Amino acid sequence: METSTIILDGKALSEKIREEIRQQVESYTQKGYRQPCLAVVLVGEDPASVVYVRNKRKACESVGIKSLLYHLPYNTNLSELLELIAELNAREEVDGILVQLPLPKHIPMEEVILAISPKKDVDGFHPENMGRLLGRLEGGFIPCTPLGIDLLLKHYQIDLKGKDVVIVGAGFIVGRPLSALMLWRDATVSVCHIHTKDIKKYTTQADILISATGVPHIIREDMVKYGAVVIDVGISKVGDKILGDVHFEEVKEKASAITPVPGGVGPMTVSALLLNTLQAYKKNVNKG
Ligand code: GUN
Repeated sequence: METSTIILDGKALSEKIREEIRQQVESYTQKGYRQPCLAVVLVGEDPASVVYVRNKRKACESVGIKSLLYHLPYNTNLSELLELIAELNAREEVDGILVQLPLPKHIPMEEVILAISPKKDVDGFHPENMGRLLGRLEGGFIPCTPLGIDLLLKHYQIDLKGKDVVIVGAGFIVGRPLSALMLWRDATVSVCHIHTKDIKKYTTQADILISATGVPHIIREDMVKYGAVVIDVGISKVGDKILGDVHFEEVKEKASAITPVPGGVGPMTVSALLLNTLQAYKKNVNKG
């Protein structure tokens, strides 16, 4: 048994990052610059999305970033959404645009993402930003959850070079961009997904195991190597409980370090969004 498992405190680190952002924003506004501004677009009433958007906007306010909410009805069509995005792209004072996912089924996500100006794409989902991530080109936006995980690992001085990183989940928002970022950090990366024949064969080899499936408690003690670092991206509501992908009580006995849910990756994702928005803002106000 690991006697001194480190709890990777995403909440504490995210608060430290937010304080630094707040000070940077203040130093700009004290010089007479306008506030940074994030436009948040929510289509429909998906309950989880409503909560996430509220949290993101609260976090913006707490650091002095203005947030504009565009809450559109579920039956909004693609051209109406594209029209709004075109307007937000054109508005000088809008630094970042975030379209909350998932979108209603009748709206093709790819077309919406392509329409967002890559310079305002603080989610990092536009192919230009995803391509920069694969190309190891600085200056693009890195998707928020992968960036938040990278910052958390850096803070706890968890080295990635040559390490076996296993990611469970190959989704567009986390698994795929995270695999590119971990490769950038010189890890040996395996990505497991729904068609993987034997997930345990991979997870038991992982120095760093990252689960992003949204399946509560999919990661059990027998799937984890002694001394592994375990990062839990899952947030599922089961009854009135919030459960991660990882069976925390079981796995913490074997892991050398582990993120809690809540209080691990979630707040880091929001802080990464604020960092990306600040990055967009700085480029915007410093240009010309
Ligand atoms: N839905 C779940 N995570 C995210 C995210 O990071 N960005 C957006 N836009 N939607 C999400």
